[in-house]
Amino acid sequence: CGYISPFRSVTFCLSFCIPTLKSLFPGRRYGVWPYRVFRKLGISGPMPLPFVGNVLQMGTDILSFDRQCLDKYGDVWGVFEGRQPMLMVANPELVKAVMVKECYSSFTNRRNFVPEDGPLADGVAVVKDEKWKRIRSSLTPCFTSGRLKQNFVKKLERMNLDEPIDVRQFVAPYSMDVVASTSFSVDTDCINNPDDPVNVQAQKATNFNFWPVIIQTMIPFGGLLLKLLKFETLPRSNVDFFYDLIKRLRDQHKAGKLVRIQLRGLTEHEVLSQAFGFVLAGYETVSTTLCFLLYNLATNPDAMCTLQKEIDSNLQNNGSFSYEELSGLDYLDQVLCESMRFFSPTPRLDRECKKTIEIHGVTIPKGTLVAIPVSLLHMDPRFWSSPEIFRPERFSKENASELNPYAYMPFGLGPRNCVGMRFAVLVMKMVIVRLLQSYSLETCQDTLIPMQFNWQFQPIKPIKLKFVQRKQ
Ligand code: HEM
Repeated sequence: CGYISPFRSVTFCLSFCIPTLKSLFPGRRYGVWPYRVFRKLGISGPMPLPFVGNVLQMGTDILSFDRQCLDKYGDVWGVFEGRQPMLMVANPELVKAVMVKECYSSFTNRRNFVPEDGPLADGVAVVKDEKWKRIRSSLTPCFTSGRLKQNFVKKLERMNLDEPIDVRQFVAPYSMDVVASTSFSVDTDCINNPDDPVNVQAQKATNFNFWPVIIQTMIPFGGLLLKLLKFETLPRSNVDFFYDLIKRLRDQHKAGKLVRIQLRGLTEHEVLSQAFGFVLAGYETVSTTLCFLLYNLATNPDAMCTLQKEIDSNLQNNGSFSYEELSGLDYLDQVLCESMRFFSPTPRLDRECKKTIEIHGVTIPKGTLVAIPVSLLHMDPRFWSSPEIFRPERFSKENASELNPYAYMPFGLGPRNCVGMRFAVLVMKMVIVRLLQSYSLETCQDTLIPMQFNWQFQPIKPIKLKFVQRKQ
């Protein structure tokens, strides 16, 4: 049908690249020399191939690959993304040390994933060490709950609800409105106008080009080469659009949010990087999490009924509600937590080791990338009873003592966790309440059951559901 999936095209290109690289760097030394790293440390793992490491073995189903490695090598093993060694850690004690205890000493930073002189270079998710501490501390107080919108249900009333809806097309514009209003202080209207340029450009921006990251790890001076070739992770026109927008807004809203951030000591480029970074960090994750949540409710009607009862008996139908009232809905909180366990929006986390350290008998050399297989931990029977069952009650107050806090991390862990977490939770809860006050969700013929993911952890086809109007 003319469609080549991203993974198939990666596989095709790799099968072209490997012979080419072999002829460019004969003797395979360049392609294999880092592979001794784990052997020297006594850490086992699957055998890597020259240049590409274990990328091909990971295939389209990274979760299954991780699970096989856990079963075969125990809860610490080594893999290679290209030539980049990656220490996989699925042991809660080690997770705690890396993400929390030793965050400032050895594991302050993530791996480099954007160009050093690019538009996102000063983003809080990217910057390192002291610069990160400074930017993070000026951003933390910015996440208030004051900018939420109330016009969500209007959109639904105008849609043809006899037909199943592509859930992402429905929630993504909403997420954009909220994220744009908080990050840029701009009121977009993507809900009622999905062709709003902000919405169109944001969707383009979240379609990251992963190639530069892969190429950098495979060939010598890969980073330099990409720079010379002016290879871009994000399209230039896209970057320019957001930069112009943010600059215009900053000029217009002299007394607005961006100016307040600037007063706390951020440079112009730093302010622009944060605003742009929030679109990328917030828009995609909120949309994805909401899609999964709606899917989980539709496929678990009992949980949906219990939640509707809680909402109906505590909140006035379609009236306004306070932050406290929303936070008081315990079952809603449990459903959200369970949904994020079931389908973790961020399947893996990483930290770069900046100083050699020994933790619980494992030596982690400087420069090693440590990765936490979040989705694997969220489904690990060592920490969850019947993990394959959607059961919100496991997050109830009564069951709190059974939870292992280092086996659950939808927003990451420790000082470098998600800065937008409280805000994102609030937005998602508000959306779910508004929606379930008026509608029930049902699966339809086109709903993919069970869910299946592609190599980017996205559903292999759009999530389609029916929205059935509730009797008032
Ligand atoms: C459901 C929604 C969201 C999810 C699941 C999510 C998840 C995450 C995760 C897993 C991390 C990495 C944490 C770590 O490495 O320990 C992260 C970091 C981050 N998130 Fe979120 N996020 C969400 C929404 C948002 C929103 C709405 C914003 C901003 C408006 C945001 C801004 C950030 C930033 C700036 C970072 C980097 C923080 C740092 O490096 O200091 N996120 N997020």
